[in-house]
Amino acid sequence: MDELKTFDPSQVSETDLRAQLDADLMPRHVAIIMDGNGRWAAQRGLQRIAGHQEGLRALQDVLEILHELNIPYVTIYAFSQENWNRPKLEIQLLMNLLERYLQEERSLFQKRRVRFRPIGRLHQLPASVYALVSEVAEETRHFTERVLSVALSYGGRAEIIDAIRQIAVEVEMRSLSPSQIDEPLFEQYLSTQGLPDPDLLIRTSGENRISNFLPWQIAYTELYFTKTLWPEFRRAETLYALLDYQKRERRYGRVTQTVSS
Ligand code: IPE
Ligand code: IPE
Ligand code: MG
Repeated sequence: MDELKTFDPSQVSETDLRAQLDADLMPRHVAIIMDGNGRWAAQRGLQRIAGHQEGLRALQDVLEILHELNIPYVTIYAFSQENWNRPKLEIQLLMNLLERYLQEERSLFQKRRVRFRPIGRLHQLPASVYALVSEVAEETRHFTERVLSVALSYGGRAEIIDAIRQIAVEVEMRSLSPSQIDEPLFEQYLSTQGLPDPDLLIRTSGENRISNFLPWQIAYTELYFTKTLWPEFRRAETLYALLDYQKRERRYGRVTQTVSS
């Protein structure tokens, strides 16, 4: 595994980084664990929510550059199953922020022709958030070329269990036989159904872990771990992470240098 990255924006320019990118080697699907908002706020003597607000601005920056680069699929970890164990007030403020974000961005989704696709145990969200999330998902579902998946009340193990339950019901009803269960079939029961697996996973804030994010889907994903706290992860480091990805050789267990995509 690659070392934990330290990125210094004063050392590189966005233009230089962009010029180095190879258009033929772009990832199709980028997944992001946006972590470190609380620590960013604490460093400045601010409330945690101020970190989440700044984190939202970072997200807007990152989505903008990924859009400019025509990367079709992006999946972000916005709220985990485990995050329900946070203080009630922080959860409430995060939900408010999510509502405001969706209200503000729904026109941008139309403009960029992006499908907003929430994943996770959505029914656990507060009713008003659930309603809005469903509405925005519905009004963008006809866009197929670009997808923004947002993991909300998401847990990777829960997702796998939910898939197994559905499959078990079908076996019980005899609409499926155990011998038909293989990897492509199983993937049809996951919330990411129809999306290619992430090519690149970014995690900020210096933590070297996955925290229950897409455990099935990232089996062969390239990982980029950086010390940067999420609110400071902006356009330049996004480009840097993409460049870093392009330098990797994806062998998929083989020994040859060339793997056709
Ligand atoms: C990530 O930042 C945002 C969410 C999990 C919602 P954190 O809130 O986890 O920030 P740290 O890890 O405490 O710094
Ligand atoms: C992962 O961050 C979840 C999200 C970014 C939404 P956490 O801060 O919850 O993860 P841990 O607790 O460090 O594993
Ligand atoms: Mg965290």
